[in-house]
Amino acid sequence: MVFCEIAHGGRGYIWLSSERGSPLLTLDTASRYRHLFPVFDRVTYINSCSQGALAYQVRAALDEYLDGMESEGALWDLWVTKQEEVRGLIARAFGTSESKVAVTPSASAALNSLMSSFDFSRGRKKIVTTSLEFPTLGQIAHAQELRGARVVHISAETDNTLDLAKLEKAIDEDTALVAVTHVCYRNGAMTDIKSVVEIGHRHGVPVLVDAYQSGGAMPIDFDSLGADFLIGGGHKYLLTTPGLGFLLVNGNSKFIPTNTGWFAARDIFAMDIFNYDPSQDARRFEGGTPPIPTLYASAAGIKLLLDVGISEAWAHTQEVHRQLREGLTALRAQVATPEGDGNHAAMIAVKTKDEHAMVNALNKERVVVSSRDGNLRISPHFYNNHQDVDRILAAIHKHRNLLV
Ligand SMILES: Cc1ncc(COP(=O)(O)O)c(C=O)c1O
Repeated sequence: MVFCEIAHGGRGYIWLSSERGSPLLTLDTASRYRHLFPVFDRVTYINSCSQGALAYQVRAALDEYLDGMESEGALWDLWVTKQEEVRGLIARAFGTSESKVAVTPSASAALNSLMSSFDFSRGRKKIVTTSLEFPTLGQIAHAQELRGARVVHISAETDNTLDLAKLEKAIDEDTALVAVTHVCYRNGAMTDIKSVVEIGHRHGVPVLVDAYQSGGAMPIDFDSLGADFLIGGGHKYLLTTPGLGFLLVNGNSKFIPTNTGWFAARDIFAMDIFNYDPSQDARRFEGGTPPIPTLYASAAGIKLLLDVGISEAWAHTQEVHRQLREGLTALRAQVATPEGDGNHAAMIAVKTKDEHAMVNALNKERVVVSSRDGNLRISPHFYNNHQDVDRILAAIHKHRNLLV
């Protein structure tokens, strides 16, 4: 494999192969898959922390669902198999087994169901979490105060990293749950969740990881991570449309939700209205009728990502991230995302004077990004290439008066 400069300032890895039947030249990851995403014909899209780019396959899957409705009406027997297909794909994407996967319409739905399985009024009361959480986790944790819980937030340091010694100090005999985001949606800071799991377990406390901003962007092996629970969703790095969440559950059959629905039953088709008999596996955290159109889109999106390979996607994204950081440093931009392997995932966040003005200004340059908490969020995935980086850096340079 050689790294080379090619036409129009582009750079890429080229495989030279002499094997019969194999292509002579294979370009880098983005070059191989970019043509599947029509949005790149229109804009520079580098916004996967908000919504992954739409692939042809995902649109075709949605068409297939609508075609079925148009020609057959109701295809429930087929539609419910989509739930199982997606469960299997999520299991593959996170290195775990299908019995540990609950498929839900959002991460919030998954978390509400999980929280309902804790008895904060009689058991341990404390939820230890951080200042880096998405509102889903923060608000649902605080909602449990109505059920007897107490929530403690560990503040991140000024560089947005989390001091795990402070986290450990907050865990005591009254702690029911440690709940930590893997990657912060506001600034891209990544926490060492393996260490968080070890800390929680050292004190006999279950650990929940919010992996919404990392799942699909980088390899996460749920079984070897050992976390008790993990929530995430589909429409960012897993390439689906909105409407897919999930909860991964590692054993822990003592947690039985009261927030439930008929798809959580041990036998969905028993149609029993006189008993509550939840499934023994993670399915017990599901609810009502699944979001069928999203499941079609999700099956296609996650399958495509698995074909690319999450490890390959991550290797590519890290390279794009590095190039972005170098370019931002050259522009003297202040980066909110901590530096160094293990401290960030795909996203790189840049401090601005006015985040909305910056997003709008870049939009006018046909560059699509997003913002939170004063930061411009640039979030590449395997389909972004070095030209995308050059374009966004040029656009930021043009509007550098909006940088801090
Ligand atoms: C880290 C994180 N957690 C949770 C969520 C929200 O999940 P949902 O809207 O599916 O409840 C998001 C969405 O952006 C997120 O980034």
